[in-house]
Amino acid sequence: MPNVHQFDVVVVGAGGAGLMAGLYSSRGAKTAVISKLYPTRSHTGAAQGGISAAFGNLEEDKPEWHTYDSVKGSDYLGDQDAIEFMCEEAPQAVLELEHMGLPFDRTPEGRISQRPFGGHTNNVTGKPVRRACHAADRTGHMILQTLYQQCLKNKVTFFDEYQVLDFLIVNRRTAGIVAVELATGEFHTFHAKAVIFATGGHGRIFEVTSNAYAYTGDGAALLLRRGIPLEDMEFFQFHPTGIYKLGILITEGVRGEGGVLINGKGERFMPKYAPTVKDLASRDVVSRAIYTEIREGRGVNSSNYVWLDARPESIARYAAEDGRTNPDGSPYVLSGEQLLAKVPDIIDFCRVYLGVDPLTQMMPTQPTAHYTMGGIPTNKFGEVVIDESNAVFPGLYAAGECACVSVHGANRLGTNSLLDLIVFGKHAGLKAAEYAQQADFEPLPPDPQADSRAQFEKLRNGSGKENAFDITTEMKKVMFDLVGIYRNEKGMQEAITKLDQLKERFQHVKVTDRGRIFNTELFHTWELGNMLDVSEVVAKCALNRRESRGGHSREDFPNRDDSDWLKHTLAWQKNGGVEIRYKPVVITKYPPKERVY
Ligand code: FUM
Repeated sequence: MPNVHQFDVVVVGAGGAGLMAGLYSSRGAKTAVISKLYPTRSHTGAAQGGISAAFGNLEEDKPEWHTYDSVKGSDYLGDQDAIEFMCEEAPQAVLELEHMGLPFDRTPEGRISQRPFGGHTNNVTGKPVRRACHAADRTGHMILQTLYQQCLKNKVTFFDEYQVLDFLIVNRRTAGIVAVELATGEFHTFHAKAVIFATGGHGRIFEVTSNAYAYTGDGAALLLRRGIPLEDMEFFQFHPTGIYKLGILITEGVRGEGGVLINGKGERFMPKYAPTVKDLASRDVVSRAIYTEIREGRGVNSSNYVWLDARPESIARYAAEDGRTNPDGSPYVLSGEQLLAKVPDIIDFCRVYLGVDPLTQMMPTQPTAHYTMGGIPTNKFGEVVIDESNAVFPGLYAAGECACVSVHGANRLGTNSLLDLIVFGKHAGLKAAEYAQQADFEPLPPDPQADSRAQFEKLRNGSGKENAFDITTEMKKVMFDLVGIYRNEKGMQEAITKLDQLKERFQHVKVTDRGRIFNTELFHTWELGNMLDVSEVVAKCALNRRESRGGHSREDFPNRDDSDWLKHTLAWQKNGGVEIRYKPVVITKYPPKERVY
């Protein structure tokens, strides 16, 4: 059999979760990391504002407050045992990154600097607390570089620019994966006892998104085809501040440093929606507030964007209005030079892409599709669980954005994603290595690459007339317009009908490049198949959930309904459709109550 590799553990994806999993797994098992990108190009590098840990370096804070904020931010859909586990582990996880060499910003005393972020509060006063540890606005970039260096030092084996195509199951256990090498078009079989999926999210299904081109839901889609369910896929987060039309993230750290949102009438509007934390309410609340302003005619130039004002004189004025001071009680001000040091990339992006200088001008922003709370169901050790009773699939793990632990429930707090991928990447790596130490290899199927080859050959040899780019453009628009921030029955039904038509057209897609070497047209067309499958699941799960909670806002069911809907969705691909069932949420210390900000 050509191109067969054998490893105890194979990690798919080389973002923060994949690298952390690879690092920890490699300490106890022969481990490979395969990735469709060169590792340091992974989407973790786009994470800007910080990683949360309740150190209390600048003011009082504690992991219990972090836990409660995350439960509340999740609109009570997060599993509280897992959230508590993550928040308790956070300080140690961040210290470990620091000890690996991550260059965090510092306080004058030399401690890790922390900034406020949406939904991070002092649980006594309800006011914002500084909990996000940051390296300027390049925190994710620094995490990637640091972990990649550690993996190289620990001699993790990398297969860069290999696209995963299939998950191999033998005797109802993990047997490995199949991947294609982008440079040659050759198929490779990775025979493994354990596989960890860390393939990231699927924000590219939406028209305006902060997500990298690579975020096409590959891991979720291919596991779905192998009978693994997906959890809570209706919950997708729109980050309030994307660069207008481009979707590129403007970190919440800008508001953490004192920036505020302004409507087309020049009014600061967040105090109306969240009187205590204002511009630092959780993301679902802020994104809906922006949309409400726009819908009610208060967008800038009556259009669909608002301003983000971070000019130093505005920061000082609004800080005085809010009673914000420095830790020593002096008035809070930030010079242009200080702002440039704290958010250099944001200032560059605005100058380069918009010709706008945030030090002297306001930034045009609109909500951008940012993060999936749903994904491959796991427990807090990264083991994939496949039914309502949380039965573990032997040898299969997931971590990072492609997974649903669930620590984010219906809405994730900013900076909990970097924390999630460090904490659960580590535990998935540890658990997979432990499993591999006692498990045997399953035999490989007679022709493990057969299905992958068939999929690729069908696309390569297709003689239809459909164009993948046209289908992609239509899918993104349908998802953004009809399954976006606000949803209703009619719109979602329309989206599902349209997605059915797009899936049918996809059967007749024509790839013009018939070659094998770096055939990016072919790879992107295959990714489109994944996005269509994932979109269908998102739309159908959203249609089924007849309430509003976190990132899922239904105009026809505007209230949260705990009596009927305090439960996780599980969705399977079956008989050409989607089968939906539900499982309970784990509630430990915090019974659901109304969210007030
Ligand atoms: O706003 C941000 O910097 C994004 C952070 C996050 O999604 O956690």
